[in-house]
Amino acid sequence: MSILGQSILSVDQFDRDAIQDLFRIARLLEPVAQRRQRTDILSGAVLANLFFEASTRTRLSFCAAFQRLGGSVSDTTGFTFSSISKGESLYDSSRVIAGYADVIALRHPEEGSVKTFAERINIPVINAGDGIGEHPTQSLLDLYTIDKEFSRIGKTIDNSTVLIFGDLKHGRTVHSLVKLLVKYRSMKFVLVAPSELALPSDLQTLIVEQGHQLEICTHFKSAMKDVDVVYATRLQKERLSADFKTNYGEEMTINKALVDKTFTSDVVIMHPLPRDSAQTAFDLSTDLNTDPRLAIFRQADNGIPVRMALFTMILGVADNIAGSLKDVQWHSPRKTGKDDAEFPVG
Ligand code: NCD
Repeated sequence: MSILGQSILSVDQFDRDAIQDLFRIARLLEPVAQRRQRTDILSGAVLANLFFEASTRTRLSFCAAFQRLGGSVSDTTGFTFSSISKGESLYDSSRVIAGYADVIALRHPEEGSVKTFAERINIPVINAGDGIGEHPTQSLLDLYTIDKEFSRIGKTIDNSTVLIFGDLKHGRTVHSLVKLLVKYRSMKFVLVAPSELALPSDLQTLIVEQGHQLEICTHFKSAMKDVDVVYATRLQKERLSADFKTNYGEEMTINKALVDKTFTSDVVIMHPLPRDSAQTAFDLSTDLNTDPRLAIFRQADNGIPVRMALFTMILGVADNIAGSLKDVQWHSPRKTGKDDAEFPVG
């Protein structure tokens, strides 16, 4: 399956072969992401990076990925400074911007809007999050992270147990991740959420129909030792009504005490980020920051090679990567974060 020239709207477009291809190219690009090598295979190409909803990492990650391939980026953020605030339709914006760029990354608050934007142009559009719909590039980098963490500890995605916690109703990263994981074999999904934020029923049905185990809980149990991955998510406040309340208390904060008591010593703890640092947010605690099981920053770092790989495949230059790599001459630290865990090499 080739994605040459295609828009990326949903993870439904990826079968396991396409995922393996993407990951193989991402691995090839890791030295570029880690600033040890450089390439300019997209020199002269332009990305239009259009974000009409809040974003830090996704917007900058698309931008850095394209620039590290030698391309340049034009961007716009928010409705206020865009012609949409003057009443311009998505159709007009899409056709106009398609005249300026080789590829477009778009985040928009309405589900389905990225598809509408992509429909009448021949320039590929990447869905960077459409409301509560999908976030395909995030879940591809999430899956890449699981694959990479598992290969370090000798596990496979097939036969693994993934616990997903938080706002499963509105979390688009969760929706895309579930659709990707069901493509693997004999998975177990443990969904932990208040019932009013449960995973949409069509996705629950998909899990069961594809032959996987599904366990639904409103709270953590005392021991969940079969869990291989904990994927925590933020309450999507911007999509909840002002009077929304859960009966969650502090016992639902994923902190070191809960992780030590409930999970194993090699569980992989993930989060698409941002973490909500408010006291009452029941999000992933910062007391795990120096715990090597916390993979959230390695996960965010993985956004660069995965998005680079996607750009090279969409724009048809993946075969030129190997021959284009050169060593970098500028200084770069060996570890990005001072608290980053050291793992044995090989
Ligand atoms: C997520 C998103 O925007 O859906 N963030 C991201 O892109 N990494 C998750 C969130 O905002 O909670």
